[in-house]
Amino acid sequence: MEKMKRTKGIFITIEGGEGSGKTTQSRLLKDYFEAIGRKVLITREPGGTVFAEAIRKILLNPVSHPVPLSELFLYEAARAQHMQEFVLPALKEGKVVICDRFTDATIAYQGYGRKLDLKLITLLNKEAAFSVSPNLTIYLDIDPKKGLNRAKDLNKEFYGSDGDRIERESIFFHNNVRKGYLSQAKKYPKRIKVIKTQNTPLKTFILIKKYLDVIL
Ligand code: TMP
Repeated sequence: MEKMKRTKGIFITIEGGEGSGKTTQSRLLKDYFEAIGRKVLITREPGGTVFAEAIRKILLNPVSHPVPLSELFLYEAARAQHMQEFVLPALKEGKVVICDRFTDATIAYQGYGRKLDLKLITLLNKEAAFSVSPNLTIYLDIDPKKGLNRAKDLNKEFYGSDGDRIERESIFFHNNVRKGYLSQAKKYPKRIKVIKTQNTPLKTFILIKKYLDVIL
């Protein structure tokens, strides 16, 4: 069982492999909640504050070569800052906070991807998240090969780049990340909902929508 601290707001996290369309779904969620009169904060990890965005730059730069433990600590450092400075105050004000990636990403990427100790990650996740766990987590499930190709095409088209440091990891790494997410979803079926990505963002959102009524 996950311990969850009660907050006034609603905390929703969106997870998924590379190229799964998280950003588009976050925006659709924001529109949905605003349309029913809720105040929404949309944010991401790593990032969301000046300090955490600076950490993001280091983490995603292809010229960085952190050892797995350094990588883990940086994700957690960004998380603690983001939570204290940005997410917790918004939840206290009763806002709906939609966060692109959170603690499940650390289990999937640093645990299943980098093979770091899951107990250590769970402990650090809890500390950095101030024991707050999302009310709902949407995991957008896409075949890693398909998702990576999509991400690569987008990167080429918009930034003329070969993708960030994590996107450049092997297909083997990304398959393990997917295994990590699916095992988290199995462990926490009430909180984490697995949504297979559809051929249009709207079709995917219709699948997500049915879980929103439950948390409202
Ligand atoms: P994205 O927000 O554009 O998906 O980029 C964030 C990248 O960082 C993505 O490849 C997943 C990775 N990541 C981790 O490895 N561990 C984490 O704890 C988080 C939040 C993200």
